[in-house]
Amino acid sequence: MNQAKGLQNVVKDRAFSRRNATAISGPTVLPRVIAVTSGKGGVGKTNIVANAAVSLSRMGKRVVIIDADVGLANIDIIFNLRPEFNIRHVINSEKTLKEVMVQSEHGIKILPGGSGFADLTQLGEGEKLNLLTEFESLADQADIIFVDTGAGISANVLYFNSACDDCVVIATNEPTSITDAYAMMKVMSREYGTKYFKLIVNMVDSEAEAKKVYGSLSGALDKFLKNVVLEYVGHIPFDRQLQQSVQKRGLVMDRFPDSASARAIHEIAVSLSRRPLKNNSNGNLTFFMSRVFQTTT
Ligand SMILES: Nc1ncnc2c1ncn2[C@@H]1O[C@H](COP(=O)(O)OP(=O)(O)OP(=O)(O)O)[C@@H](O)[C@H]1O
Ligand SMILES: [Mg+2]
Repeated sequence: MNQAKGLQNVVKDRAFSRRNATAISGPTVLPRVIAVTSGKGGVGKTNIVANAAVSLSRMGKRVVIIDADVGLANIDIIFNLRPEFNIRHVINSEKTLKEVMVQSEHGIKILPGGSGFADLTQLGEGEKLNLLTEFESLADQADIIFVDTGAGISANVLYFNSACDDCVVIATNEPTSITDAYAMMKVMSREYGTKYFKLIVNMVDSEAEAKKVYGSLSGALDKFLKNVVLEYVGHIPFDRQLQQSVQKRGLVMDRFPDSASARAIHEIAVSLSRRPLKNNSNGNLTFFMSRVFQTTT
């Protein structure tokens, strides 16, 4: 048995015993794992994740954010946190996931990525198993897990997107953002078989403008990628109060909770957390990591 097969069998066994445990003890609520991605950078992913997380945590949900942005990892900056460790320390078995995660004043747990996720493809089997075990422990601590991916369509971004329950694409009305969002969905559907995406249109003046963006994206998908479905989730208006909050290292949800962007993000967060699973995912972190690893082995 080769090493990759060995890991996959371990993953399967664990998933099986977990499902059996669920069957015996009744249904457990498994966390939803939601990737927020874009193609083009700077379209608002990190702000949407952070503010949606605050909104949901105020509603009593246990929220974890995985900062999988291997570039400028800035979820911690937006929450004004200075994490000492990151996922790299977990991979190296120097720290546990619990020790690496930092908590915001809202009670949101953040897993800093640092450069740790960048070389997911390079991990040895032992390192992958170690990560898998650690991630299993996270499954019981969260209702919603957001994965803030980096910009672009690098292999790492794609792994995370394909492994999550939901793949939420953020676009603005700029042609480059629309083209890049389309390119992302094209690669995801062709290379990873992802057929179902959700769309949030950010920084627009009106719903009509957002629907236009949705129209051009879904039109292109209908024409060129027949089986891919794009669901419109909502739009977030362009809002100077969000920018002011960023400049002061804060969140619009805290500083201007009645602003147009905060209200829109709240509605989107509620809707994302409510939606039933549309794909064949088990909403389970073991599966999440195993899917990540299956695409990398
Ligand atoms: N609704 C909005 N209204 C006005 N400005 C916004 C809005 N959303 C985001 N911005 C602006 O866009 C900037 C980039 O946002 P953010 O860092 O969340 O994007 P990102 O997609 O995570 O970027 P990256 O790809 O670099 O990770 C913010 O600093 C803010 O100034
Ligand atoms: Mg970001």
